[in-house]
Amino acid sequence: MTTPTFDARWREARRIAVLTGAGVSAESGIPTFRGAGGLWRRYRAEELATPEAFARDPRLVWEWYDWRRRVIAECRPNAAHHVLADLEVRVPEFLLITQNVDGLHRRAGSQRVVELHGSLWRVRCPAEGTVTERPEVPLPSLPPRCACGAVLRPDVVWFGEALPTDAVGRAYGAAEGCDLMLVVGTSALVQPAAALPAIAKAHGAYVVEVNLDATPLSHLVDELHRGKAGEILPRLLCALPGP
Ligand code: OAD
Repeated sequence: MTTPTFDARWREARRIAVLTGAGVSAESGIPTFRGAGGLWRRYRAEELATPEAFARDPRLVWEWYDWRRRVIAECRPNAAHHVLADLEVRVPEFLLITQNVDGLHRRAGSQRVVELHGSLWRVRCPAEGTVTERPEVPLPSLPPRCACGAVLRPDVVWFGEALPTDAVGRAYGAAEGCDLMLVVGTSALVQPAAALPAIAKAHGAYVVEVNLDATPLSHLVDELHRGKAGEILPRLLCALPGP
């Protein structure tokens, strides 16, 4: 048996997993977390994105999330979101694992998506455990309340919280079973998402990184593309065969 060439690894991929981070939405106008202009340069995560912050001041936390919802509602999916939505119908097995809570992959048409860190567009009742879509912008009153009277929270993962077990299970399953993993626009500093490319590689997948900058993953990937996701992904993915 011969080792397939790099091009063949792309062409022959039948099980593709994609891991995305905030960089995939940067060209839509949504701030990333780290780097110049990043949210964690301007805001303190421990005051806005922890269970303790929410317990202390739910209105303040909600004002920040409502502001982010308003910003994102004005943004549109970019070319990177669109080509990833096209890709899922071109391969038999596909999973898009995103750390983003902005909902832009779904707005671009992606359906096989795992939102590892939740979604800004859903709320959760801590008393009843129910999760509900709340797309209206702005929310009529802050903090929003459940019919049961409890203060609702954004259905996102905060620092110090565990990720949803089913989402993690699906993400690990895809990383272990894929033959190609695309890693797009993540600084790969937050676990467990950051571990997925190494898991894919250990199980024999060909791993491709698309990022403006070097990351802790860059030394382990098989193929590196430095630049903007919205420019590189359309070029890379047009090389794949159709459905
Ligand atoms: P980061 O802000 O940490 O990293 C964004 C990455 O995208 C960086 O490596 C940038 O170089 C790269 N980048 C920026 N613009 C790009 C573009 N146009 N094309 C390609 N790459 C680009 O965001 P994440 O890695 O997503 O968690 O951060 C992970 C998690 O940390 C987030 O989900 C969030 C945050 O704390 C929670 O809120 C739980």
